[in-house]
Amino acid sequence: MRNNRIGYTGSELLCSVEAMGIGAGDEVITSPYTDMGTISSILTSRALPVMADLDPASFQIDPADVERKITPATKAIMPVDMGGQPCNMARINAIAKKHKLRVIEDSCQGHLGEYQGKKLGTVGELGCFSFQTSKTIACGEGGAVIGNDEALMDRVFSVMMNGSHRIIGTKYRMTEFEAALLLSQLEGAKERFAIRNRNAAYLTSKLRKFPGLVPQRLYPGTTSGSYYLYMMAYKKEYFNNADRSKFLKALAAEGIELSPYIAKGLHREPWTEFILKQPVYTKMFPPERLKRFRDQLHLPVCDRVCDEMAMIWASGPLLGTLADMDDIVNAIAPADFPTTTQALMQLQLLIGGRDVVDVSPGTTIRAMFLQIFNGKAATLAALAALVKLSDDAKVPWWKANGYPRPFDLGDIEAAGLN
Ligand SMILES: Cc1ncc(COP(=O)(O)O)c(C=O)c1O
Repeated sequence: MRNNRIGYTGSELLCSVEAMGIGAGDEVITSPYTDMGTISSILTSRALPVMADLDPASFQIDPADVERKITPATKAIMPVDMGGQPCNMARINAIAKKHKLRVIEDSCQGHLGEYQGKKLGTVGELGCFSFQTSKTIACGEGGAVIGNDEALMDRVFSVMMNGSHRIIGTKYRMTEFEAALLLSQLEGAKERFAIRNRNAAYLTSKLRKFPGLVPQRLYPGTTSGSYYLYMMAYKKEYFNNADRSKFLKALAAEGIELSPYIAKGLHREPWTEFILKQPVYTKMFPPERLKRFRDQLHLPVCDRVCDEMAMIWASGPLLGTLADMDDIVNAIAPADFPTTTQALMQLQLLIGGRDVVDVSPGTTIRAMFLQIFNGKAATLAALAALVKLSDDAKVPWWKANGYPRPFDLGDIEAAGLN
C-alpha cells in the first residue's frame, strides 16, 4: 500500500464519488448485486447508476457488459469485490483506461483480500471499505477511503469535513468513539483472515465433487479473498428441481445455516422508478436516455444468481476448525450417506406428492430419511420408480460425476429399510 492515505468516514463511496466531481448528468456503471450503499452513493450525488449484469460463475460484475453500457456521459466504473473476493479488476481497469474512466473500487467486503499482488482497495483509483456491523472488521457504522493520489485524497478529506470551506461536502467523518472500537478490532484481524482463507480452500476442495452446490469462481490472480461471505450456487437440477428454500430448511435442521443473501438484484427495487420522476433526473438526462435506463433493467444473470445463492456468513462459521468445516460438508453431503440430501429432495418431489416430508426444526436429514423409509411414504415400488426416474433424468448427476447411483434397491434391502 505504497503512499496510501486513508480517510475514515461512514460514507466512503459517496465521498469518493463527490471527490471525483461526479454529479448530475453523469453516469457511473456498477453492479446490481451489492448493498444499496453502492447505488445510493451514486444517487446521492444525483448521478445515474447504470447496472451491468454479472458473470454467472463468479457472481461479480461482467466486464463485457460494463463496456456495452458505456455512453458519452459515463464518468466512472464502480466495481464491487463481491463476497470479499476480487472481481475481474484486470479487465475493468483496462476498460477504464481505454475509455478514460475513473475507477472507484467498492471493497466494502474485501478487507485484506489480495489480487495480482495488490491488496483489494488498492487496485482501483480509490478503494472503499465498510466497517458496518456485519463486516470482518467492524465498529458499528464506519468506513474508509484509500488512494495514492494526494490531490484526490485531499478532496476526499474536504468532502467529509463539511467541504473544508472550499468545496461542497458535509460532516461525513467517522466519530472517535467508532474509531476506538475499530482499533480494538484490528488485533487478530490478519489471523482471522488467514483462518477464513484456509477454511474456504478446504470447503472448496471438499465440495469440488459435489455438483449440487458450486462455490464462487475466483479469477486468476486471486491470491486470497477476504471471505466476508462464502458463496455457492444451488443447482436445483441436481435435487430434482427442489426449491432452494427446502434445501436451506433441511440444512438448517442439521444445524448449518446457509443464507439466500440478497433476495433480488437492485435493478428490481423501486428506486429505479422513483428517480425517473425526479426533476433533477428529468432535467439532466434526455427522455430517451431515461427510457433506455429503464429498458436496460433486464439483468437475467443477476436474477439467476439471486435465485441460486446459498452462502455462509463467513465471519462467523468460517472461523471454526477444520472439523467444523467437515460438519458443514457432512450436512451438505454426508460421508456415510453421501446422497442423503439429494435423495431427500428427490423423494419429496417424486413420491407421495410435494410435501411428504415436513422439514421441521430439530429433525435431522438423516432422521427424516429414515422416517421416510420406515414410515408411510416408503414402498419399494415407489423407490424403484424413483431410481428409474432418476436414471432417466436428463443429467443424472451421479453419472456426470462418476458416482455410483444415489441409492440401490439392494442397499435398501441390506440396510433393512424396506
Ligand atoms: C458491497 C458493499 N458495498 C457498500 C456497502 C455500504 O457500506 P456502508 O454501510 O459502510 O456504507 C456495503 C455494506 O454492507 C457492502 O457490502
